[in-house]
Amino acid sequence: MKISIIGGTGYVGLITGLGLAVHGHDVICMDGDSSKLNKLNNGELPIFEESLHELLKEATDRNKVVFTNNIKTAVRESDIIMIAVGTPESKNGETDMSQLILALKLVAGYINNYKTIVIKSTIPVGTCAMARMIIKDNLKNPMIPFDVVSNPEFLREGNAVSDFLNPDRIVVGVDTPESEVVMKELYRTFDAPMVFTDTRSSEMVKYACNAYLATRISFINEISEISEKVNADIHAILQGMKLDKRIGSHYLNPGPGFGGPCLAKDLKSLICFAGKANAGLPLLKAVLERNGLQIKNIIDYVMSELKDIGSKKIAVLGLSFKAGTNDTRNSPAIHLLEKIADTKTSIHVYDPVVKNLEEPLHSRVTFSTNIMDTIMDADCLIVMTEWPEFKELNLEMVYMMMKTPLIIDTRNIFSPNKAYHLGFSYKGIGITNPIFDSIDVSLKNII
Ligand code: UDX
Repeated sequence: MKISIIGGTGYVGLITGLGLAVHGHDVICMDGDSSKLNKLNNGELPIFEESLHELLKEATDRNKVVFTNNIKTAVRESDIIMIAVGTPESKNGETDMSQLILALKLVAGYINNYKTIVIKSTIPVGTCAMARMIIKDNLKNPMIPFDVVSNPEFLREGNAVSDFLNPDRIVVGVDTPESEVVMKELYRTFDAPMVFTDTRSSEMVKYACNAYLATRISFINEISEISEKVNADIHAILQGMKLDKRIGSHYLNPGPGFGGPCLAKDLKSLICFAGKANAGLPLLKAVLERNGLQIKNIIDYVMSELKDIGSKKIAVLGLSFKAGTNDTRNSPAIHLLEKIADTKTSIHVYDPVVKNLEEPLHSRVTFSTNIMDTIMDADCLIVMTEWPEFKELNLEMVYMMMKTPLIIDTRNIFSPNKAYHLGFSYKGIGITNPIFDSIDVSLKNII
């Protein structure tokens, strides 16, 4: 099939376009960002994503993808127009639909025969209905038939290529039998169940999934705080939880709180549009509140430790919002650095793929080219992401290299017992020092 991706050089658009291309479709990735288009036309990638280079090479070697800024060609030469433009968060938490509305108007103006318009962007419930009206109002010939379809994506940064090529399921919201036939053909070669719903339910699936994922993270972070207060061990607690098939072990790792461009944005958008529909939302608001508390608690702990450290050296490992990506949008590490930047500490940072930060932060920190230089003579080591090369650090060597043996491990990548027995002052998430006196804290007040 002939497909165009409007917004075809962004995370979702590019991976979707290349993924469909290697499945045999003829894909036009259209975007207005000339720097990204130039990179792609030179075989370079505008984003860091595992195994994306191989996908780009295969799609271009097979002549199944082109990159262009010409929206007229993209629309006229395609049967399916997939819209994957950004739907960022606006100031009050609502979704900023301006890019989507502009794309719909431009696409509509070039429609010259039946098209299936597929919205891949994350959109509030009811957007497909709005899209139908916008297209109808902007068609050059109002008699030309078209359909609007919802097809949300569930791609995780750092895992996006695999998530696209091996989806757990493909969700499609349609309002006509014709568009259902088109979408079945589009994904015919994918080995995954297709879930067909109406467009509003399909739009809601994306928010429900991300809200649930965010809830799991805030839940385990709250359990971790309780664990610290009652001198329990989150690792042991998780061992006891995950064998329950209803709970499982995935997506239940305590940390500095969920970052990135999606979870918090989608949760705020959901709270906004569901609130307008008079839904109550106490749970989802609490999930967001807990998330803010998680990074605040970590920052407060670091600041309390820094108070003693004064103007000494701290080492921060990891800048992106999670391992596997170079995306620092809404990264807990950045929130932490912005706070520490106001102190007199000498801040040394290392990240395997993030080599630049926005000013003024970039000039405030020292980028080390390797982990050892970062850790050498540090008075505090803060782990913010769970890259394998951080997990493989030899703690004995780290102990000898640091001036003050203080580790703040926001990803629980190190063994607490090993750290304690080496003599580190170790702060994990949901962990307390096993040398802690054994009297049960809840009984202390009684005895
Ligand atoms: C998320 C959803 O997973 C994906 O389906 C959706 O399409 C986009 O949003 P992404 O934000 O890229 O994907 O990454 P994800 O792996 O979900 O991590 C989100 C945040 O949660 C990161 O900050 C990560 O560190 C954190 N996280 C994740 C945890 O703290 N604990 C976990 O167990 C999992």
